[in-house]
Amino acid sequence: MAAISLQGLCKHWGEAQAVKGIDIEVKSGDFTVLLGPSGCGKSTTLRLIAGLDQPSAGRIHIAGRDVTQLPPAQRKISMVFQSYALFPHLNVRDNILFGVRVRKEPRQGYETRLKRVSDILGLSHLLDRRPAQLSGGQQQRVALGRAIIADAPVCLMDEPLSNLDAQLRQEMRREIRALQQQLGMTMIYVTHDQTEAMSMADQVILLRDGRIEQDAPPAQLYAQPASAFAARFIGTPPMNLLALEPSPQGLVIAGSTHVVANDAATPLQLGLRPEHIRIADDGVAAVVETVEYFGADTIVAARIGQASLLARLPGQHRLRAGDAIRLAWDPRDQYFFERDSGLRHG
Ligand SMILES: Nc1ncnc2c1ncn2[C@@H]1O[C@H](COP(=O)(O)OP(=O)(O)OP(=O)(O)O)[C@@H](O)[C@H]1O
Ligand SMILES: [Mg+2]
Repeated sequence: MAAISLQGLCKHWGEAQAVKGIDIEVKSGDFTVLLGPSGCGKSTTLRLIAGLDQPSAGRIHIAGRDVTQLPPAQRKISMVFQSYALFPHLNVRDNILFGVRVRKEPRQGYETRLKRVSDILGLSHLLDRRPAQLSGGQQQRVALGRAIIADAPVCLMDEPLSNLDAQLRQEMRREIRALQQQLGMTMIYVTHDQTEAMSMADQVILLRDGRIEQDAPPAQLYAQPASAFAARFIGTPPMNLLALEPSPQGLVIAGSTHVVANDAATPLQLGLRPEHIRIADDGVAAVVETVEYFGADTIVAARIGQASLLARLPGQHRLRAGDAIRLAWDPRDQYFFERDSGLRHG
């Protein structure tokens, strides 16, 4: 039985449609990420699951129970939102226990649960402090504590790390993932950050304009993107998309003579991931446009015929704008997308 199941979920406000028919099955104990650009409907979907908004159409099941009409408090979920809104006048202990008390859960057991949660989150020595006396990361953990002390089997998080600096984000990512696995929570986690999605998720649901673009585990999303949109959303820098044109020998990169495929019935684009491109003596002639050195690797922008592309080369390369180089890639790393629909071809 799915822990969470959404069927034909829609939400509109007047003319504006934020969610346009979403079907999702989340397995119990899975970490599912809702990923997508700003405005694609991630928060709306989460708010519908939480019961903070009512869907215009569709059903929501949690643990096999139809909760579509139930108020949030009866859905057995906990939530952490982007603005984690701690109570400034309450100390850490009271902030964590706030929800449990509001729900008037039995008093006994409070202290044991509080101890367990604060130990897990490394907050035990901070229980008497107020939020203003905590770092951003500690405040974040208090918000997490409030969610996990509820012992709800389902936890919903909406960009919970967005206020943190890059390093703290990375640490918290690992902590949240470890915590989720340790406690066996079913998690739905919203982010627009693909690295967060890739590193944390069992299953990624990529949304675009209120619809599901692709629903797959991270490795599959990376290796088998369903569309050019999905291909470019995952990976840094994003996958290169190169225009192709017919030639007597087959499809070539526009403006070059390099044949990449047989002619096709529909216009195609070639997709190449920057990390799959290398410099090789027997490669395709290219001209360097810019070079950016990042320590572990170098991002080289180059032109083949009329097409510009980025290559991510390991280490440092002494290249300058205008240099003639040769670039190669394994034909098995070539992706083809229909130019008009954006869908993966073949
Ligand atoms: N209360 C509302 N009334 C009208 N339109 C809304 C309302 N809430 C959201 N929308 C619209 O619905 C769409 C989806 O919004 P949503 O907040 O779900 O996006 P999101 O994917 O969470 O984006 P972000 O990454 O910026 O948080 C947007 O176009 C937004 O303007
Ligand atoms: Mg949002």
